[in-house]
Amino acid sequence: MRTFLVAANWKMNKTPAEGLQFVEELLPQLQNPLHVQVILFPTILGSAPLAQKLQEIWKTRPELKKSFHWGAQNAHYEKNGAFTGETSMAVLQELGAKYVLVGHSERRTLFGEEGDLLAKKVATAQTQGLTPMLCVGETLEQRDKGQAKIIIEQQLKAGLARAQTQAPITIAYEPVWAIGTGRVAEPQQAEEVHQWIRAWLQENWGVEISSNTSILYGGSVSPQNARELSQKPNIDGFLVGGASLKSDSFSAIIHSKGV
Ligand code: PGA
Repeated sequence: MRTFLVAANWKMNKTPAEGLQFVEELLPQLQNPLHVQVILFPTILGSAPLAQKLQEIWKTRPELKKSFHWGAQNAHYEKNGAFTGETSMAVLQELGAKYVLVGHSERRTLFGEEGDLLAKKVATAQTQGLTPMLCVGETLEQRDKGQAKIIIEQQLKAGLARAQTQAPITIAYEPVWAIGTGRVAEPQQAEEVHQWIRAWLQENWGVEISSNTSILYGGSVSPQNARELSQKPNIDGFLVGGASLKSDSFSAIIHSKGV
């Protein structure tokens, strides 16, 4: 059975103190029990205090230990070494991270990440006990040319080339034209791509992995559109940017799935 995941991608927003304040505000808004998994992706320097905060929270609300996690927006694939300015997955693992984003479109377009580099990150995440969240998605130009599935297939093939099939993985479908633009994919349009990704996973990795892998949608998710998107059978959660910066809008998205 796959789980429904709602993830906050804070990008380069929130100081460590602001991250902690967000958690303070979000906590009383979370239903008990929580029916989805929540993941926060803070900045790297925000992660250590956040990790400590979650440890404290788990003590007073132990039911959240299984459903309230954090991850990193990026990390290097080597365990250590001469890589100035980078953060290793070993460090993340030691701090208690559970997830790592790989190949977010901003990493692809602004930092030139692609191909085997992403495959190595996915593989290292898995060997470090982290769940990689591989992001894929087409630009508007590619969609208009009818190339969306070709591009997504290339990204899946490259990103998963070194992955282990026994370790968990998650996929986030984020059409580039929907990220930060306020232009969300139509629920049916997103569902069609999610269904196609699941079929691709089934063909390449088998039915068990395909049916157990959560495929998240990302791109201008908001409290207004989350419910309808969450009702689609192949949409297993959200990767939320802008609307994850305020605890009330993020909470509304978390609870959009219902029970
Ligand atoms: P957005 O960002 O929700 O602001 O569109 C999503 C993302 O980049 O992960």
